[in-house]
Amino acid sequence: MSETASMPLIADYPLRAHNTFGFDVRAQLACRIEREDQLLAAVRDPRAAGLPRLVLGGGSNIVLTRDFAGLVLLIALRGRRVVREDGDAWYVEAAAGENWHEFVEWTLAHGLPGLENLALIPGTVGAAPIQNIGAYGLEMGERFASLRAVDLASGQTVELDACACRFGYRDSFFKREGRDRFVITSVTFRLPKVWAPRAGYADIARELAVGQHGSVNGKVSGSADAAPGARAIFDAVVRVRRAKLPDPLALGNAGSFFKNPVVSAAQFAALLEREAGMVSYPQPDGRVKLAAGWLIDRCGWKGRALGAAAVHDRQALVLVNRGGATGADVLALAAAIQRDVAERFGVDLEPEPIFL
Ligand code: FAD
Ligand code: EPU
Repeated sequence: MSETASMPLIADYPLRAHNTFGFDVRAQLACRIEREDQLLAAVRDPRAAGLPRLVLGGGSNIVLTRDFAGLVLLIALRGRRVVREDGDAWYVEAAAGENWHEFVEWTLAHGLPGLENLALIPGTVGAAPIQNIGAYGLEMGERFASLRAVDLASGQTVELDACACRFGYRDSFFKREGRDRFVITSVTFRLPKVWAPRAGYADIARELAVGQHGSVNGKVSGSADAAPGARAIFDAVVRVRRAKLPDPLALGNAGSFFKNPVVSAAQFAALLEREAGMVSYPQPDGRVKLAAGWLIDRCGWKGRALGAAAVHDRQALVLVNRGGATGADVLALAAAIQRDVAERFGVDLEPEPIFL
């Protein structure tokens, strides 16, 4: 490995510790970005001229199938603060390199509830808008105010609102037209002052029923049947996630490998006739979202392996690296699952992570 005098660009950089599948691939060049001005300096460095670029946060939603012949920008921008408030909400800004879960904890510790359902999602704040992270009845887009990003095409810094980001289910502008063009440097969240619990997701409701109720950041909220507080929801989400999802430090994975597919009402009705007990979520537009984990489970894949790549034994939507798997191994497993699900249910599963 070597460094240039101008920017600390590191050649032949190992990415194993920078992707939660733990794939052992390398980057031609890498640069740790701790200040915004380092971004343009890095991409304009003569050694990086003409090379493709890859932005990496925690590497928890990416499948690195090969070495990267380009420049990896390792986002390490730090800082978080309340930037303003109005009558209805607090506005909280966090730099892109902040750890997402630590940021959620920090908001609660400062009496700013609203993100608790998204506890324990791995990765960074800057990646949260890329697929509009969501869990347990809440999507990030519902708490989003704006973001700052550097447009690598023009070198300009831009501020984008929710409309420009075009958030959808595990989707945004940045996964489509904006792909590989913008580096998000900070995100501002809008946390309403009137807080209401979001505790309807079955796993969370069940967990709360056996856990502790009744406080918002330690302040008991009134009557004996008071709604669960933000901290109680946070704790319940953490417990549910620890029980179902593998810790990437122990077992490499990137969370859900496929999106939950959305089918027409007619296709759903036909499927339900054949498949009793099919898990489904009606959508506002009349279509129906299916649980991909249930479909994969029904095909008998839960706990099964193809070489060193396997389907997690507690959550069939999560593919894991049992040790020594490559991106190609995981892709072969994913393709076999897609084939079986398509054959049995006539449903195409779309991968959720980004592939390289
Ligand atoms: P990375 O994997 O580093 O990057 C993901 C993509 O975003 C890449 O295309 C990258 O280029 C781009 N990117 C990253 N940072 C920036 C930036 N600053 N500017 C521009 N582009 C950027 N996701 C959910 O939505 N809900 C869940 O419940 C959930 N659970 C998970 C559980 C586990 C165990 C794991 C491993 C993953 C889970 N995920 C979940 C997926 C993942 O945690 C999220 O997508 C997370 O936001 C990824 O953050 P990251 O920093 O690791 O992104
Ligand atoms: N199910 C099975 N078998 C399985 C897995 C799931 O039958 O092996 C059933 C469950 O019993 C449940 C349903 O499928 O009835 C849904 O399962 P779960 O509640 O675990 O959620 P999911 O749909 O599999 C989604 C997200 C997760 C998010 C959880 C909680 C997607 C693609 N995944 O998973 O997000 O944490 O809901 O909201 O939308 C991620 O994106 O990486 C991720 C982990």
